[in-house]
Amino acid sequence: MKNQELWATAGKDIFWYQLPTTILDDSNPPFMRWYADGVTNACYNALDIHVRDGRAEQLAVIYDSPITGSKSTLTYAELLDRVCRFAGVLAAEGVQKGDRVLIYMPMVPEALIAMLACARLGAVHSVVFGGFASNELAVRIDDATPKIVVSASCGVEPTRIVPYKPLLDHAIEIATHKPERCIILQRSQKVADLLPGRDLDWAQAIQNADAADCVPVAANDPLYILYTSGTTGQPKGVVRDTGGSIVALKWSMSRIYDVQPGDVYWAASDVGWVVGHSYIVYGPLFNGCTTVIYEGKPVGTPDPGAFWRVISEYDVKVLFTAPTAFRAIKKEDPHGKYIENYDLSGLKSLFLAGERCDPDTLNWASNKLGVPVIDHWWQTETGWPICSNCLGIELLPIVPGSPARPVPGYKVDVLDTAGKPVATGEIGALVLKSPLPPGTFTTLWNADDRFVSAYFSNYPGYYETGDAGYIDENGYVFVMARTDDVINVAGHRLSTGAIEEVLAAHADVAECAVIGVADEMKGQLPLGLLVLNAGVDRASQTIEEEVIQKVRNEIGPVAAFRKCIVVDRLPKTRSGKILRGTMRCIADGESWQMPATIDEPAILDEISQALAKLHDSA
Ligand code: COA
Ligand code: AMP
Repeated sequence: MKNQELWATAGKDIFWYQLPTTILDDSNPPFMRWYADGVTNACYNALDIHVRDGRAEQLAVIYDSPITGSKSTLTYAELLDRVCRFAGVLAAEGVQKGDRVLIYMPMVPEALIAMLACARLGAVHSVVFGGFASNELAVRIDDATPKIVVSASCGVEPTRIVPYKPLLDHAIEIATHKPERCIILQRSQKVADLLPGRDLDWAQAIQNADAADCVPVAANDPLYILYTSGTTGQPKGVVRDTGGSIVALKWSMSRIYDVQPGDVYWAASDVGWVVGHSYIVYGPLFNGCTTVIYEGKPVGTPDPGAFWRVISEYDVKVLFTAPTAFRAIKKEDPHGKYIENYDLSGLKSLFLAGERCDPDTLNWASNKLGVPVIDHWWQTETGWPICSNCLGIELLPIVPGSPARPVPGYKVDVLDTAGKPVATGEIGALVLKSPLPPGTFTTLWNADDRFVSAYFSNYPGYYETGDAGYIDENGYVFVMARTDDVINVAGHRLSTGAIEEVLAAHADVAECAVIGVADEMKGQLPLGLLVLNAGVDRASQTIEEEVIQKVRNEIGPVAAFRKCIVVDRLPKTRSGKILRGTMRCIADGESWQMPATIDEPAILDEISQALAKLHDSA
């Protein structure tokens, strides 16, 4: 089926207040407008439609929190009621279509309720992952300029309670933009002090709230902004529109994941990431499934059987997580003994994404679970999979190391630096032919120019994914590495550039470089190399500890920045470019070649010795 026909047909499968007559308006490339004249509402498609059509008593949400020892459920009718009332709270505070609402919350049902309440009003939510610290939060507050912030008093991690409220207060203090109101969900693990005049208690606010109705929005009105790491400390605000997201996510649920209305679908991720937006919240609900909100870890809450318990307890049909979660489980339970304690007969497939899936992990999961294990490749920007074995269409042979072939709607090519297609099997830049399908990003918030320059300028007519890889003779795509400064730590996307900015701001640091080095469990870990200012006579170890703490305070614990060394000099090309790639090869023990353009080859020996010392001391 031709691309526009495919999306015209898929478009008929959702609720519209006004049916689109234009399927794709491509008059202003690379800005694409799918369903340009359609009018719809994401919350209506997630909730009202199912209550209307007989799913009122079906579970919409299962909340399972081993970390706090609590569980609860919400039917579609109950969830709709909660969302209507929270939308009423927002509306009473003056939130209208197009206003931004920032959500900084742990994995609790209220996070999903807040997102859907925004969608109900046509307000644009921007969820910030709880593992980010105040500075990162402040950058997002200044960029999105939210009218309201919705947060919780705390998050709960295995080893500690994370008080969110002081982090939020500090973020607002350092941000230039000041939100009018903060709505705080008080959690018993740590109750927060509320600021009179600015802060509202969620529970109190919702008690007296009137239910708010859905506001019809244009298909191209933004549903949300989600910030992701780019090459600099200024994150990119990925904007997703409403109509395309509903169509694509609903389509993907049955075609890619092979789940039907009524099935239990579990994405073990976090609402702060794109996986959480697409496959904890919107996709499953658009499709009338039951979604699981899991506040816990794959191991340690309480043991490596945690995932199997959830699958058996709720009869989960499809599990989606990052390979790192399976590496963590495999490390603690290499023989899969915990699996034997549970009935996993309801599980039909496991989907993995977020980072390259090493064949060992894929084979282990496949042997232990006895279901198809599907590696699929996508990005915050695309919002849903680019390449996947589409279980609802046809199960292709599984080739470990490859996310299989492009999903209908995507055309993947591999180009060399001159923009010419490479031969089959040769590595190059992975690019997607424009137009991208519905549900992919439509721009970057407040940054149309950056949208064009970062993604559409190097290869005219294509979207540049930032990944490098190849396509084999069977059309299978292999995603091998990033072409930019983005690293992937435990499935979390981080910018080495952003970490470098924090290091460089330390008073004693003259120069620095951050590289992503291989880690058995997390895939990659950031490693910092520091050159100190002349005359600094403080102990290197003290400075290393200070910058590690600085990254934790300013970016957040999620950066997992624990390795840092002081060196005398950094290796550079004659034009002054730091040779990060060569240092990464040395750190990972890979073979490397002396770059022809290197300024002083001897520096690489010094770096090798410093890295060897660091390795020995670890
Ligand atoms: N709020 C506050 N802090 C958080 C947080 C949150 N929502 N999520 C993580 N953190 C903290 C952790 O407590 C940890 O802090 P620490 O340095 O004090 O120990 C730090 O951030 C790093 O967290 P994480 O990367 O999750 O590492 P971990 O060692 O706690 O757990 C895994 C490792 C593999 C178990 C974990 O990363 C995981 O479950 N990953 C699943 C994959 C996933 O969710 N991917 C998202 C895309 S699909
Ligand atoms: P994020 O935007 O956080 O989802 O991260 C997207 C990046 O993660 C991609 O650009 C890839 O570098 C990497 N990634 C995601 N899924 C895969 C996969 N299946 N195989 C290889 N890399 C992946």
